[in-house]
Amino acid sequence: MPESVLRVLTCGSVDDGKSTLIGRLLFECGHIPDDVFAALERDSRKYGTTGGEIDYALLVDGLAAEREQGITIDLAYRYFETPRRRFILADAPGHEQYTRNMVTGASTADVAVLLVDARKGLLVQTRRHATIASLLGIGQIVLAVNKMDLVGFDRAVFDGIVDAFREFADKLGALEVTAIPVCARDGDNVIAPSDRIDWYRGPTLLAALEQAEVPMEGSRRPFRMNVQWVNRSSAEFRGYAGTVASGTVRPGDRITNALSRVSAAVRRIVTMDGDLDEASQGTPITLVLDSEIDVSRGDVLSETPMLEVADQLIARVAWLDETPLFRGRSYLLRLGARTVTATVTDIAHRLDVDTLTETPARELHLNEIGRVTLSLSQPVAFEPYRSNREMGGFILIDRLTRNTVGAGMVERAARDASDIHLQSITVDKPARAAMKGQRPAVLWFTGLSGAGKSTVANIVERRLHAEGRHTMILDGDNVRHGLNRDLGFSEADRVENIRRIAEVSRLFVEAGLIVLVSFISPYRAERMLARERVEEGEFLEIFVDTPIDECRRRDPKGLYAKADAGAIRNFTGIDAPYEAPTDPEIHLATLDAGPEALAEQVIADLRRRGIIA
Ligand code: ADX
Repeated sequence: MPESVLRVLTCGSVDDGKSTLIGRLLFECGHIPDDVFAALERDSRKYGTTGGEIDYALLVDGLAAEREQGITIDLAYRYFETPRRRFILADAPGHEQYTRNMVTGASTADVAVLLVDARKGLLVQTRRHATIASLLGIGQIVLAVNKMDLVGFDRAVFDGIVDAFREFADKLGALEVTAIPVCARDGDNVIAPSDRIDWYRGPTLLAALEQAEVPMEGSRRPFRMNVQWVNRSSAEFRGYAGTVASGTVRPGDRITNALSRVSAAVRRIVTMDGDLDEASQGTPITLVLDSEIDVSRGDVLSETPMLEVADQLIARVAWLDETPLFRGRSYLLRLGARTVTATVTDIAHRLDVDTLTETPARELHLNEIGRVTLSLSQPVAFEPYRSNREMGGFILIDRLTRNTVGAGMVERAARDASDIHLQSITVDKPARAAMKGQRPAVLWFTGLSGAGKSTVANIVERRLHAEGRHTMILDGDNVRHGLNRDLGFSEADRVENIRRIAEVSRLFVEAGLIVLVSFISPYRAERMLARERVEEGEFLEIFVDTPIDECRRRDPKGLYAKADAGAIRNFTGIDAPYEAPTDPEIHLATLDAGPEALAEQVIADLRRRGIIA
């Protein structure tokens, strides 16, 4: 069996003849079972576009039909081999909305084959695909200029396309480009050289793929392994299980926990099939070390050179979700086996993948790529993506839906975690709270405009004050005149509005106060963020639950009338969302009781929780 494996990503649209090209490769090098071949002959006569000849595209599109039925199979992988090497082919559909698939395929590919229709030349799609391929670390591109028969095998047409592509590719940096004129339908320059394109002296497509380098070959790089779990199956046995992410490990090797920087030597490499003398990239193993060092799930075991450790990263992010990425929003970030909370503290720019210009941005939309700064809840060990995809690539996950919403590539640390030490403080929160004789807390009132948040919050504050409690109130209408004067009502601005209020609330809690917050705060994600800024038990979400029809009827500020008339845009509940709390600590049903009674409900709850005596 051939040793080397090349991972190939194919990009282009169906019209470019991509299916025919892939079908041909599979047909000539793959193992097409007889019954599939018989069906192919039959279908070619029936549905083919080749006048009864074998229509190779049917081989691929037939497989693709399953993809159209379900959204689960995003990316089709196909396998074939020649005596020289094995190929894993990931096929990325051409439409823009499939960037997600393209990113997934590109993150592991060594070579991208970009298909161009000779009659159409370079398309926006072609540039887009080349850019994403290059960003995701693919250094080699095969530009297959297809349908050469339809331009009379004209060399000038081919040269024109290739020149334009090279000019674009130069801007992307070190990309190795091989351009091949082909006619996929008839097989010219796919497997065998074409005698109809006699001016071309370069390799066929298959030869180019056989000759391509496998640059990311993991076993030549330093050893790294993400610890998936710690196996303590008996009192004597303690092993660290994971898959070798790169490099090779042998018993006796000295390895270090990249995060804690403690070292030990490898005693055994345990697998289901017995101990190994050596394990390399892709092998699942359990490492037993010669001494007890502190290693937990999510840590990285590594040989030198050591990985970097940081809690602030600068990274490229390709955004894959309908809801944009906003500055200030937090997500889960998974790098290797470690998952941490990551807050977007800055968006440096977004990249226009068609022109390669960078423009300032406050958010990233679906399919956009930008450079962001991420602030992490805990440090991670990593390598820059360009030197190690496994240790430098990450995904961003929505905290509520658990969907993968972004794919990231670490460029560098924004700062080294060890550079900054928190000031040690002797007058701390407990000291400040003790002096006031109270437990600090955040009472977070959320609900529609006109729901009655401020009314109830004011009564609660008055009652707490009367009992000698130290309080502070933050109200949307007031804060938006000062600290948040620069913010409007777009989603991005509301995210930032609440982020700041979450931080301010935290500071007041540090000061030992009971903070009452009265903001619509329509997004669960930001309310969750606010909750996490303080300690467990200190945050009470109070849902002021008034149906929109009732808010509209009350309309204390006359805003619903204006919004309904179209005079105010992005009005919560009308043309902007309100994500109601699913599990609030306190639920105030305002249709059932008046403000005083609701305030009493809050006070009673605070007593029950021991926040006030
Ligand atoms: S939040 O959504 O960012 O939390 P916040 O509570 O600060 O909103 O401000 C809401 C107040 O701003 C409302 O009570 C209302 O008086 C006013 N307002 C003005 N425009 C809008 C709008 N488009 N949507 C909601 N409230 C608005």
